[in-house]
Amino acid sequence: MLEKISLQGKFFNCCISVSLSSGEKNGCKSLHSLLVERQRQAEKSVLISCQSKTNEKKLLKYLSRHGDIKRHFFYESYLDRQITSLTEFYQLTEENIRLRFLVCSLLKDIAAAYFPECTVKPFGSSVNGFGKLGCDLDMFLDLDSISGWTTELTKSGLLLEYQMKPANSERAVTQSILSVIGECLDQFGPGCVGVHKILNARCPLVRFSHQPSGFQCDLTANNRVAMKSTELLYVYGKLDPRVQSLVCTVRCWARAHGITSSISGAWITNFSLTIMVLFFLQKRNPPIIPTLDHLQDLAEELLCEFFEFYATFPFNRMSINIRKGQEQNKPEVSPLHIQNPFESSLNISQNVNTTQLKNFVTLCQESSWLLYQSKTMSPKGVAVDSTTTTWGIATLLLPSRVPGIKGHRKRREPASERIKSLLESLKYKTQQKKTKD
Ligand code: GTP
Ligand code: MG
Repeated sequence: MLEKISLQGKFFNCCISVSLSSGEKNGCKSLHSLLVERQRQAEKSVLISCQSKTNEKKLLKYLSRHGDIKRHFFYESYLDRQITSLTEFYQLTEENIRLRFLVCSLLKDIAAAYFPECTVKPFGSSVNGFGKLGCDLDMFLDLDSISGWTTELTKSGLLLEYQMKPANSERAVTQSILSVIGECLDQFGPGCVGVHKILNARCPLVRFSHQPSGFQCDLTANNRVAMKSTELLYVYGKLDPRVQSLVCTVRCWARAHGITSSISGAWITNFSLTIMVLFFLQKRNPPIIPTLDHLQDLAEELLCEFFEFYATFPFNRMSINIRKGQEQNKPEVSPLHIQNPFESSLNISQNVNTTQLKNFVTLCQESSWLLYQSKTMSPKGVAVDSTTTTWGIATLLLPSRVPGIKGHRKRREPASERIKSLLESLKYKTQQKKTKD
């Protein structure tokens, strides 16, 4: 019960039978009497952590049984506010989402030269609810909507069938389709620059920049599994807004420390990281997803526990499996093994090397320690970095003090400008809120 109470993120300060001291002259208290009065108030006050949706009247009535309540105050957790600010700061805006759909529609117009009834759909973080401003635009060319493709009878009773050149495999067909569309984009796509056909990848794609919108785009075809994964993440994100906030915060933290990168390589991808957050939520006792009763009660404590969980996870032996919600023995030797929920023989983090995994674990340990300190050492109950006056989540986004990771940060292109403005924004928002209060 105590654990549950401490997870609320909102505090209810209830002062019981406060008796004020006198000692004023002409309504003006001496410093001494002011201090005495405040100390007496403090001695007769209790701080109670409770659920954010607690019925105030009921609680006061209950507490009145134990004594007279002179005054009471509600406090909100600062860390909780920071997580919300961070999510709001980064999340995709309505106009940005519309622009993403518009680019899909433009792409469709180009692809329609070859496949008249095709559609181009966004997937991944543009639509799964975990997108950050500046994230890439993942699209897939859907040929299932072509009426002849599925050989359905039209109203007239006539059957329209597109003839395809026989090919060796579905993969070969996908590669050919993307090859011609890539060519077309390169030659005639308005505003499409830097077109690269990456056809030998496990999932063949055409990568390009769409200059008018500023989006980095990945176009795939025949990629239904990715659409399923997108839906899975979307559903989990919708179960409770705090799932989204936790994923967003962990993603920001990982980006700030070079655990993830916009360049493909041996880094942990945002997709893998999101699955790791979901797995952690499933493994909590009691599980957070899909049974979300407890999520109501959780705020920033989840972040702390997330770091603890992965700081000690037996990555050397175990695989992460969100289908079962259980870790399982690794079927292969990859440093990080996260089973693909829809293609169980595949590892979605196959690309991650030992160094990257080690960086991730070390940062989890460090961040868990920072948050632990926030609970035990800071007078306000938040993590404070005395050199920069940042605190809480913002402290977690500062450069790591772990030597190896610091070196790594120096080499990579720092996200420092964005992080700096984010820190400013967090400070500003907190300041604003304090002024309002
Ligand atoms: P960001 O682009 O980094 O913001 O996140 P994202 O979720 O869009 O990731 P990414 O662009 O790397 O991939 C787009 C989508 O493809 C993901 O959301 C998944 O749905 C899917 N995806 C990515 N990697 C894998 C993988 O290894 N296996 C499967 N099945 N799907 C993947
Ligand atoms: Mg993406």
